[in-house]
Amino acid sequence: DPSSALAASNSTSPLQIFVRAKKKINDIFQEIEEYVVETGNFIAALSKDGVLVTEKEVVTMDGYFNKVSGIKEVLARDHMKVAFFGRTSNGKSSVINAMLGDKILPSGIGHTTNCFLQVEGDESNEPFLTTEGNAERQSVSGIGQLAHALCNNRLGDSSLVTIHWPKTRCQLLRDDVVLVDSPGIDVSESLDEWIDKHCLDADVFVLVSNAESTLMNTEKNFFHKVSQRLSKPNIFILQNRWDVAASEPEYLTEPARLNEVRQQHMERAVGFLCEELKVVAPQEAEQRVFFVSAKEVLQQRLADSGHQAQVTALPEGFSSRIFEFKDFERRFEECISKTAVVTKFDQHAQRGRAIANELQELLLHIQQSAGQEREQKLQQQRTLKQRLHQVTQQLDTATHVIKDNIQRIVHDIDRKVSAALNE
Ligand code: GTP
Ligand code: MG
Repeated sequence: DPSSALAASNSTSPLQIFVRAKKKINDIFQEIEEYVVETGNFIAALSKDGVLVTEKEVVTMDGYFNKVSGIKEVLARDHMKVAFFGRTSNGKSSVINAMLGDKILPSGIGHTTNCFLQVEGDESNEPFLTTEGNAERQSVSGIGQLAHALCNNRLGDSSLVTIHWPKTRCQLLRDDVVLVDSPGIDVSESLDEWIDKHCLDADVFVLVSNAESTLMNTEKNFFHKVSQRLSKPNIFILQNRWDVAASEPEYLTEPARLNEVRQQHMERAVGFLCEELKVVAPQEAEQRVFFVSAKEVLQQRLADSGHQAQVTALPEGFSSRIFEFKDFERRFEECISKTAVVTKFDQHAQRGRAIANELQELLLHIQQSAGQEREQKLQQQRTLKQRLHQVTQQLDTATHVIKDNIQRIVHDIDRKVSAALNE
């Protein structure tokens, strides 16, 4: 079975932290639901006698049941969400395609992405689209058609189109990662709306920046806004198009100068994350900045999967850029799965614990009332027994008296009869 082989090969992925935690918490809530149902039936049966439980407790049980099934539903849908931002044409869509190992999102020169595009895994074998507020499945036969379908977006650049991609075609989607592509932050007026709508539940943000230039104020300002709304957002910075920078003739002849550029970009990016945004400690910041080429990674992966011919003449620095992209993916996976476990499950775990405690208290209360009831019954029984005993004694005494009397009467009669006979 190829899918189980794939799953096995992925068992070391940091994403498994989330995947396993999700399975565990789902199992626990399944159990809690069973307890709630069982307790509910028990209480409903008791309520018929109207002695031990009140109507209010029956209603409380219904409340627990609804709460637990609500949480179960949310849990089943929980995922890890990563959102990509950056200026137009920096390669946001290309980075996502590279991570997915497939040309899923349209990319190209010019302003390509014009609304939010969410890619998520689906059990079905064919990809399809849904738009905001419309559950109708629209089929997509290919990337060309997808680009065309998206071109007609009249809903504004904050609107969301979801691409449901077969999980069987992509490990990242199978592991419950949802990727969100955005239009260029430099071409939109609605950044505040974007943050409200698309950023508050994101576990990780990736700023796709252009390594040919320096970090820009539009990019910085956007993340300042994000970090005002979220406490310590996880931000990665991809210095994309590093292949283009590296292929500049002056750097090809003098690689040391390319290193200087890298150092300069790195310092600026680290300064932005640590000193300006204060979202990451200085010693960790360098592991949030990567110099990559999304284009090369995608080409390489398409070739590896047989969708495209192998790249033959490898450009200078190709393998180190591929390596750096993989390093980014590993750190990203670690960061997103650990964060998502906390943001998605911690609250539910606490609520589950609270429900279990309240259930226990309710049952304890019933047990106590049952104990009191029993004590009362025993007391009644004891009084009855005493009275019975008294009555028995009285009866005994009465029987003796009657017996004596009868004997006396019989004796009397006897005497009288013999006297009469003797006369
Ligand atoms: P918008 O959707 O318009 O905001 O752009 P985007 O950020 O999604 O960029 P997109 O992925 O569409 O890439 C723009 C162009 O840059 C495409 O032609 C890509 O092939 C190209 N490109 C993306 N990444 C790289 C890279 O790392 N190196 C090179 N050489 N080209 C790249
Ligand atoms: Mg795009």
